[in-house]
Amino acid sequence: MFSLQLFSANPNPFLHPKPYPKSKRTHVSSVLRWNRKPELAGETPRVVVITSGKGGVGKTTTTANVGLSLARLGFSVVAIDADVGLRNLDLLLGLESRVNYTVVEVLNGDCRLDQALVRDKRWSNFELLCISKPRSKLPIGFGGKALVWLVDALKAREAGSPDFIIIDCPAGIDAGFITAITPANEAVLVTTPDITSLRDADRVTGLLECDGIRDIKMIVNRVRTDMIKGEDMMSVLDVQEMLGLALLGVIPEDSEVIRSTNRGYPLVLNKPPTLAGLAFEQAAWRLVEQDSMKAVTVEEEPKKRGFFSFFGG
Ligand SMILES: Nc1ncnc2c1ncn2[C@@H]1O[C@H](COP(=O)(O)OP(=O)(O)OP(=O)(O)O)[C@@H](O)[C@H]1O
Ligand SMILES: [Mg+2]
Repeated sequence: MFSLQLFSANPNPFLHPKPYPKSKRTHVSSVLRWNRKPELAGETPRVVVITSGKGGVGKTTTTANVGLSLARLGFSVVAIDADVGLRNLDLLLGLESRVNYTVVEVLNGDCRLDQALVRDKRWSNFELLCISKPRSKLPIGFGGKALVWLVDALKAREAGSPDFIIIDCPAGIDAGFITAITPANEAVLVTTPDITSLRDADRVTGLLECDGIRDIKMIVNRVRTDMIKGEDMMSVLDVQEMLGLALLGVIPEDSEVIRSTNRGYPLVLNKPPTLAGLAFEQAAWRLVEQDSMKAVTVEEEPKKRGFFSFFGG
C-alpha cells in the first residue's frame, strides 16, 4: 500500500523516482510545507478549463481541489461552474447555501457581478461563480462570447484581476463544452485509465487544439496500483503514450474523495492529508509553475512502469 512517508520533504518527489533512504524520511503533512512558494508562470489571469469529454471522470473534483490548493498557495482564484443546469461544484465546496445569484442574473442586470461571486470562508482568495441555477435552461444566445465577457469583467474588477480563473467544463463536446473552452488559454484534461475515457480525451484534445488551445496537460484520475500490477488497468505511462500529453498529476482511487464530496469539504483541506489530496496539491503546484511530469517518463525504466514508480516505489 501507499505510505505518506513516500512524500518526503524533497521539493519535487516526482523527479526522484528512487525511494529516499529511511533515515532521511520525514513525515510531511502537506506539500505546502515545501520551503518556497511556487513561482507563477505566464500572464495573469491564467484562464484554465478543466475538461474531459467523458462524464464522471473527476472534472469537478479536480476543479474544487486544484482551485483550493491554488488559493492555499496564496493565489487569487475564481472557479466558474460552467456545467449549466447540472452544476455541482457548489456542493463539492460546501457553498450551495450561499449561491444567491448566478451569471444569468448578472447578464440580465438583476445583480452586480460581485454579488454573484461567492467567497469561500475558509480561503478568502477563493471565489465561486455559477453560470445558472440547477436544472435551469440557459437564455438563448448564451455562449462563448458571454463567458469571454465574464472573464474580461473579472479582469477589470476593482478588487483586481484574479491570478487564476478555473472553468469546470460540462461533459460531452456539444454547445456547453464549446462555451466553456472559448475564454480559456490553457486546459487540464482529466481522464481515467480506461479506453472509453481515453478515446473521448483524445477527441477533446483535437477540439481544444482546433480552438487554439495548445497548452494542454492531463490528470490521470482514479488510478489503482493493484490493478496496474495485475495488468487489469493501463499504467500511467500507457495513458501518456496514447494521448501524448504532458502529465500534470496522477490521482489514486481514494474512498476519501467520495467522503469529502458528500461532506462538501474538499479533500485538500483534510487533516491529516490523504494521498489523493496530496496528489491534487502537487498538480496545483505544477500548474502554477507550468511544470509537467514529462521528465519522469523519459527517465523511467520500462520494467518499472506503473503508478508506483511516480511515488518512488
Ligand atoms: N480519485 C478518486 N477516487 C475515488 N472517487 C473519485 C475520484 N475522483 C472522483 N471520484 C468520484 O467520482 C464521481 C464523479 O466525480 P466528478 O463529479 O468530479 O466527475 P465529473 O467529471 O465532474 O462528472 P460530470 O461529467 O458529471 O460533471 C464523484 O462521486 C467523485 O467523488
Ligand atoms: Mg462535473
